[in-house]
Amino acid sequence: MNPSQPPLVICLGNVVADHVFRVDEVPQPPAKAQARSYSLNIGGMAANAAIAVRRLGGRAAFWGRVGDDQNAEMLKAGLRSEEIDLTGLHEVPGARSPTSAVLVDRYGERAIMGFRGENLGTDPSWLPLDMLKGAGAFLCDPRWPEGAQVALQAAEAQDIPTVLDGERSETRLLLDLVPRVRYAIFSVPGLTNYGSGARAPDALRRAVAEGVTRMAAVTRGEKSTLWLMRGETEIREMPIFRIDARDTTGAGDVFHGAFALGMAEGMPVEDALRLGTAAGALRAREGATAHRKETESFIAENTLR
Ligand SMILES: Nc1ncnc2c1ncn2[C@@H]1O[C@H](COP(=O)(O)OP(=O)(O)OP(=O)(O)O)[C@@H](O)[C@H]1O
Ligand SMILES: [Mg+2]
Repeated sequence: MNPSQPPLVICLGNVVADHVFRVDEVPQPPAKAQARSYSLNIGGMAANAAIAVRRLGGRAAFWGRVGDDQNAEMLKAGLRSEEIDLTGLHEVPGARSPTSAVLVDRYGERAIMGFRGENLGTDPSWLPLDMLKGAGAFLCDPRWPEGAQVALQAAEAQDIPTVLDGERSETRLLLDLVPRVRYAIFSVPGLTNYGSGARAPDALRRAVAEGVTRMAAVTRGEKSTLWLMRGETEIREMPIFRIDARDTTGAGDVFHGAFALGMAEGMPVEDALRLGTAAGALRAREGATAHRKETESFIAENTLR
């Protein structure tokens, strides 16, 4: 790593063209309703995390796959405008990019219909693994397990902190990925999938008992984050910042990006969790990812509860 530059966080996984409609309420079919507004945004856990890393002052690279459709053009342009390194973005001829319809109601709650893409392939052999040499942290989500597996192996061999966004996914995929990462941070449905329905504390205990995992956590939206360090028995709690949520889409993704950047900056786990908590709260309050200065002042001016 070059100490004169901000640390690089490589984010591997999903990038999605999110078609977002703000509505009064999500209608039950059969229905036809008018949206109050519409926007086309970059979504996907790893892509949102990469944007958060950049805005919070790190360098970011995105590794993943898109198709050769209109959505791919929008996604590439958007990531480029955030100054994210796209060496590891593979454009697959004839494939279709992941896309989703997001309905956000007046309380900020969402209904998401996702399309995982088509013919994106799974082969990770083209990944620019050499770039890991210059990285301060590596983050992945469970949407491209073949890519995550090879990259996590290379990252661990080079002693780079690794973070998993343990989102909703097939149990077998999470069981495979969790022991390969140092920091496994789940969403509530993700932890339920991982633990096959076990209580959160039991599932977290299981996660830190295997592989290279040093810490496991679960973010719980407007409730505190539970976390557990390997070698400790007591589950700890990171309180949240109270805010009026406008749109919680991507709050978890941003949390993970901020946490990974904290790791790349050499922060203690608790400080990185606090940075993630603040970045997630601001994202939920503003519906957009905040920059570092705003996030630091938010932490200084607000108390966790
Ligand atoms: N309503 C809220 N109030 C305060 N903080 C919030 C709120 N919603 C989200 N956050 C912050 O963002 C973090 C991640 O949110 P959440 O647990 O909902 O992620 P998620 O379930 O992975 O959702 P997604 O990935 O779709 O954004 C929370 O731990 C919290 O710090
Ligand atoms: Mg999430």
